[in-house]
Amino acid sequence: MSITIQRATISDLETLYQIERECFTIEAFSKQHLTYLLENPNAVSLVAQINNAIAGFIIGLVHRHDEEITGRVYTLDVAVKYRRKGIGLKLLDEIERIFVERGAKICYLEARKDNVAALELYRMHGYVEVKELKDYYKGAHGVRLKKKIGAQ
Ligand SMILES: CC(C)(COP(=O)(O)OP(=O)(O)OC[C@H]1O[C@@H](n2cnc3c(N)ncnc32)[C@H](O)[C@@H]1OP(=O)(O)O)[C@@H](O)C(=O)NCCC(=O)NCCS
Repeated sequence: MSITIQRATISDLETLYQIERECFTIEAFSKQHLTYLLENPNAVSLVAQINNAIAGFIIGLVHRHDEEITGRVYTLDVAVKYRRKGIGLKLLDEIERIFVERGAKICYLEARKDNVAALELYRMHGYVEVKELKDYYKGAHGVRLKKKIGAQ
């Protein structure tokens, strides 16, 4: 099974929205929000493909505050039937690589406190918890995690 990672484009919107709805219920990004991200030049939007089908995607943004450049992952989604095949990990690796290319030294992301799959993946990949986010999600607490990326 070969997984290829490519830039997402606006023509992927419908598929990305379907996967987003499969992954998240009330917290799913709207089509408008996905469109905004897909069209934002500061965003990095990637799809993972298996046999020409989109199996998952990741979207993040590069932020600049004064001298500090950071990457932030906004959403990471893998369609149910393609899970536990290393796709989430591969998407995260690739977005971190692009963040570094754009000058970021730290990557941030958030997850629900009860999202075992995501937290396990992030911890395994070097992320550490930096903040508890009380009532961050509809009906659930969250955590913010960070990882140093690239040369420090
Ligand atoms: C979280 C998510 C992106 C993981 O994607 P994935 O492609 O299945 O993850 P990977 O196959 O790359 O898994 C890498 C590692 O993460 C951990 N992991 C992944 N899913 C897990 C699960 N359900 N339970 C425990 N650990 C899990 C494991 O350590 C796994 O390695 P292993 O399979 O060798 O044991 C996917 O479950 C998903 O889309 N969930 C719904 C959306 C979501 O919660 N996104 C994250 C929002 S913060």
